[in-house]
Amino acid sequence: MSATTPVRRLTVTDVARMFADGERIAMLTAYDYPTARLLDEAGIPLILVGDSVGQVILGYESTVRVTLAEMLHHTKAVVRGSARALVVADMPFLSYATPDVALTNAGAFLREAGAQAVKIEGGVRSARVIETLVKAGIPVMGHIGLTPQAINAIGRVRVQGRTREAARALLGDALAVQEAGAFAIVLELVPEQLARAITERLRIPTIGIGAGPGCSGQVQVITDLLGFSDYSPRHARRYADLRATILAAVGAYAADVAAGTFPGPEQTVRMDDEVLADVLGRSALDRAGEAGSGAGDAPAGIPLDRDL
Ligand code: KIV
Repeated sequence: MSATTPVRRLTVTDVARMFADGERIAMLTAYDYPTARLLDEAGIPLILVGDSVGQVILGYESTVRVTLAEMLHHTKAVVRGSARALVVADMPFLSYATPDVALTNAGAFLREAGAQAVKIEGGVRSARVIETLVKAGIPVMGHIGLTPQAINAIGRVRVQGRTREAARALLGDALAVQEAGAFAIVLELVPEQLARAITERLRIPTIGIGAGPGCSGQVQVITDLLGFSDYSPRHARRYADLRATILAAVGAYAADVAAGTFPGPEQTVRMDDEVLADVLGRSALDRAGEAGSGAGDAPAGIPLDRDL
């Protein structure tokens, strides 16, 4: 691509082409403008505004608490920060409970927030909703395996599909999502062999998280990747230790402030000393209190040098 080629936003057709070409797809979450800019600059093709924002940015104990308004707010920031990546917005808990509700809310993600696609949790149980959105022209990414919005029903975060029945059910979920028209499907916390078997049986890409290397692509939560906290899920690999970097930077700043060495000359602006002398009534004329010295312009209540 030449330096003058205008940047074009990727579409689900590009994702299908990447999949057809056997290109492994890297997706990452982002929740804000500066991170989206960096991911875009790094060439990440798919950015997910995950409802994981609730836990890793907003401090909720689960994604169940995340509201539609919060997701729209974060999606808008990510869309503003990216020019090339396809932005997928996670539809929050209960925002797609029926096809009608889903249509209204998914429409808001595309029309109001500027996303190019939405993500919906659930397999067979969400197929009708996915079909409705796809028919309306809204690209949908499915999400099966561990579906965190169902945490109150599941009980705890754990690998899904380990037993014969559960694995069969997951296979059925994957097919239902594909047949409903989804352009891709997230497989979360699924045993490697099952994720691979599902991937081999689908015509759409699978994007794994904790599902092994056999998926068509991978997704990670950006704060796990960058090492924002001292907790890291087993499926995540830390590519940076921003927790240590930030702690060191913040500590150094606080020490500089305490020592009076921040701000230094480079961070400081100066004005003409003569102007200041005039402002503060330091000129000879001012000291004599002569009329026309300009001292009469001084705002009331602010003492000049001669009054101190
Ligand atoms: O919300 C999120 O970050 C997600 C990913 C874990 C796939 O849904």
